[in-house]
Amino acid sequence: MSDETTQGSGAATVDSLAENTVEVTFLPEGKTVTFEHGKLPYKDHGKEQSILDVALNYGVHLDHACGGNCACTTCHVWVKEGAELISELEDDEADKLDMAADLQLNSRLGCQAVIQKPGRVVVEIPAWNRNYVSEEH
Ligand code: FES
Repeated sequence: MSDETTQGSGAATVDSLAENTVEVTFLPEGKTVTFEHGKLPYKDHGKEQSILDVALNYGVHLDHACGGNCACTTCHVWVKEGAELISELEDDEADKLDMAADLQLNSRLGCQAVIQKPGRVVVEIPAWNRNYVSEEH
């Protein structure tokens, strides 16, 4: 009956971060960026302060073939940490994700997954996505 579940997440995730700071690590590159929650300049693709928006702000390659409109799966990421800081999965996103390769329980579309609270988020960009060459100008 001794049920000592240690959830390793939640409030503890902000330990070494300044109060209103969001820290996002992109794997496998290992690039970590930080910004003040709510102050990220919007880069015109996907939802504001979404994982795609963060990637675009910091020059991390995350493909977004449909321009962040929840109409493809090229922005697919796996959320390794900080899922509790991110907006809930909505029906249209879930429908699209069903078609994504390598679907996992922690799969999200980067353009729809909005970081709603300060704290630490770790996402992994699937290999097939990283290898996909974008045709941006
Ligand atoms: S960029 Fe197409 S669904 Fe996210």
